[in-house]
Amino acid sequence: MTTIKDTKQEIQFRFPKGFWWGSATSATQIEGAAREGGKGLNIWDYWYEKEPNRFFNGIGPDKTSDFYHRYKEDIRLMKETGHNSFRFSISWSRMIPDGSGEINQEAVNFYNNVINELLANEIEPFVNLFHFDMPLAMQKIGGWENRDVTDAYARYAKICFELFGDRVKKWFTHNEPIVPVEGGYLYDFHYPNVVDFQRAVQVAYHTVIAHAKAVREFKKLDIQDGKIGIILNLTPSYPRSSHPADLKASHIADLFFNRSFLDPAVKGEYPQDLIDLLKEHGYLPAVAEGDRALIKQNTVDLLGINYYQPRRVKAKENMPNPDAPLMPERFFDPYVMPGRKMNPHRGWEIYEKGIYDILINVKENYGNIECFISENGMGVEGEERFRDEKGMIRDDYRIEFIREHLKWVHQAIQEGVNVKGYHLWTFMDNWSWTNAYKNRYGFVSVNLDKDGERTVKKSGYWFKTVAENNGF
Ligand code: BG6
Repeated sequence: MTTIKDTKQEIQFRFPKGFWWGSATSATQIEGAAREGGKGLNIWDYWYEKEPNRFFNGIGPDKTSDFYHRYKEDIRLMKETGHNSFRFSISWSRMIPDGSGEINQEAVNFYNNVINELLANEIEPFVNLFHFDMPLAMQKIGGWENRDVTDAYARYAKICFELFGDRVKKWFTHNEPIVPVEGGYLYDFHYPNVVDFQRAVQVAYHTVIAHAKAVREFKKLDIQDGKIGIILNLTPSYPRSSHPADLKASHIADLFFNRSFLDPAVKGEYPQDLIDLLKEHGYLPAVAEGDRALIKQNTVDLLGINYYQPRRVKAKENMPNPDAPLMPERFFDPYVMPGRKMNPHRGWEIYEKGIYDILINVKENYGNIECFISENGMGVEGEERFRDEKGMIRDDYRIEFIREHLKWVHQAIQEGVNVKGYHLWTFMDNWSWTNAYKNRYGFVSVNLDKDGERTVKKSGYWFKTVAENNGF
């Protein structure tokens, strides 16, 4: 087995004992077996069937790294790359093919096997219940627009807690719940490809209701040592300047894209400014009696933070057309900061200090809740060109990316933030929504031309030394 020694002899950045080192994945992106093992279809299977051309190189979710069949090999590689924890998601449509009916025993067996294999390898399973993958049968009745779906979801969550909660202690209701709102109801990059602010608001609201109902089920069960959380992509919102108009623009972007989920999940209530803004424009969602108490009583124990890039905004330069349908961009323009560092493959800015700013905000304004970096990573196209003669991809850019972010995480810990771990997106190169296999993110490369052959990248071996030394 190859090992890469960290060049520094001394540990300069040491992390607290028991720090969670690992990576994150999602069911649709790694499992494959989309029509196998009794799984029902989800919106990705369906959309791909309808519009394969929307997917990079026409590759759909049926062609993934095949974790469904190869989980043992993959878990062995997790061990080889120093993981002490690993996040995956359960596919709702695999567990309950039509979303609300019978439980699929083959799915129960599969997830039991994965959990047991992880534990046998001393890797703690972190389980997320929803990663953009609405069962098709649920979408057909309106998806998150239909309040009944929140009950079906809470039932599914309860079933999972009951079946796996004896061994899984870290649970998450949603990954990046704002993304299906943006993708499916505002900017047309997820099914059902609706562009409608009012419907987007309703979907976001019902997602929060579904989340709170799942948390309520979790708390009722009182799982020993169990923690329930949510995973949010927090994009710190930076104004172009300290001019009041820029500050206001950045405040509104923060309300829409961060606080619309962060506040109800952690504080149990929506920011008043967001309610006022929606009210002023006539876009409040339909609510039901008791919702306020439901949200208030069901806050999370643990917050997962996904961080990739900041959001930079400025005040609108041209007066928006007041008759145009409302979109969040009515309130701000994007701002391109001169000299910013970019990941050209994904078109995202790299700003390492952003991770620190988020963490300090969590400490100061969200009760210093227990949290961890649940995703952070760098997608790169054409990584094969970095493969050396021994067959290893030498992804030094990824090592640098992780290291520079970890330095800021370390700084936040020094300042008292309750950060418990760092998970990379992602474990192995995976299928990624409409981008399919365009950008590679993994510690482990997956060669689609060689039957999904796995090879650990340089970053994977580097990460092992970091995890073993609990620092670098
Ligand atoms: C996160 C998601 O938003 O970013 C993942 O949780 C996703 O599902 C990852 O794959 C990277 O984004 P992308 O679009 O480049 O795959």
